[in-house]
Amino acid sequence: MEKINLSPDWVFSPQPMYIIGTKNEDGSPNFCIITWLGFSYDNGPCMMMTVGDTKLTQKNILREKKFSANMITEDNLWLADYFGNTNGENGQKNEIPYGYEWGKKVDVPIINECHWSYECEVSRVIELNGAHLYLAAIKNIQIDKQFENMNMKKIDLEQIHPVIYAPYNYFSIGNKLGEMGDWQKHFNKDVYEFCPMFENQKYVLRLVEEKDLNDLHKVYSDKKSVPFFNGDNCHGDDFYYKTVERMKQAIDFWSFSYKNRYFVRWTIFDKSVGHAVGTIELFHRDSEKDYFNNCGLLRLDLRSDYEKSTEIENILSLIIPKAFDLFDCDKITTKCWEKATERKIALKKIGFSSTSHKLIGESEEYDNYFVLEKNRR
Ligand SMILES: Cc1cc2nc3c(=O)[nH]c(=O)nc-3n(C[C@H](O)[C@H](O)[C@H](O)COP(=O)(O)O)c2cc1C
Repeated sequence: MEKINLSPDWVFSPQPMYIIGTKNEDGSPNFCIITWLGFSYDNGPCMMMTVGDTKLTQKNILREKKFSANMITEDNLWLADYFGNTNGENGQKNEIPYGYEWGKKVDVPIINECHWSYECEVSRVIELNGAHLYLAAIKNIQIDKQFENMNMKKIDLEQIHPVIYAPYNYFSIGNKLGEMGDWQKHFNKDVYEFCPMFENQKYVLRLVEEKDLNDLHKVYSDKKSVPFFNGDNCHGDDFYYKTVERMKQAIDFWSFSYKNRYFVRWTIFDKSVGHAVGTIELFHRDSEKDYFNNCGLLRLDLRSDYEKSTEIENILSLIIPKAFDLFDCDKITTKCWEKATERKIALKKIGFSSTSHKLIGESEEYDNYFVLEKNRR
């Protein structure tokens, strides 16, 4: 046989693929793809994994010394492709639908859509040139219940359907499924089709649900909060809801409005106390009559003990950077009442400034608005 020579490269390195889950410094999850991953033995089953130095995943593992490895199968390939083609440093990867939970034995995020996940703790780190190699003990394996009767000594790949990566294509056992970077062809990023969740160390923002009823009633029956609410153009609703029944009607209307694409209401959930403490409403506003055209209009309603600049900044910073794309607008505006000193401090810190423009409603004009323009971020 006549042979030719190739310079060193990863030309033939077919690999199963994994979504690697890590915890960000602010407590939110991050995911990417790693294919340089194999199994080994170090006083028990362990993994060997190489991660390039430029990644947020790298920083997270060096700090936390743990990660999850979630096997990529045919049914979650394009979710994985999204994770592998986006940088965690640009913000939480939540433009497309997926779920996660924190591990049972190790505090790492596990992807709900994956059928086979490892919870790992790093035992050794080897510094390479431009990358780090990790040896990690497998502390727990979570598998889909549908595989409970499978012979674990003779894994049946035809049941599991893993995806195989051979640079730069994806194959199922037998068929090519697509090319690296194709994820955008497979997802619709419409906020009214899929409402993303935002999470940091203290707060989670997620679409309002009926289970928030009692917590939200505390917010909307809190007299001290009422002056901070924005009832402009809301047909006289001041958002002061004395009864649980009235609160329920409001939540029903918010859900109806989401389904009908009027606006999105996120519940602000404080993880440290386990309660909902307010809501954020956002929608795209167009107007030929005033300055607030092609604009994301944001309403922030908080329980009065959360009306503090640090809390407001912490909450709004979660959603503002994503809101321009989510609502396809070139500015975000929010009302800030004259005496809302704490809110003003937070808004200014995020980059908003006060505007003298009046918002022209159906029958009235409204003032006291703050604006953040897209190119001023
Ligand atoms: C198919 C595929 C395989 C990848 N394999 C690796 C790998 O083995 N090691 C690595 O360091 N990065 C790998 N990456 C790159 C990371 O997933 C990518 O840089 C990601 O954006 C990092 O995300 P992060 O910034 O949130 O950590 C791969 C990407 C793809 C799409």
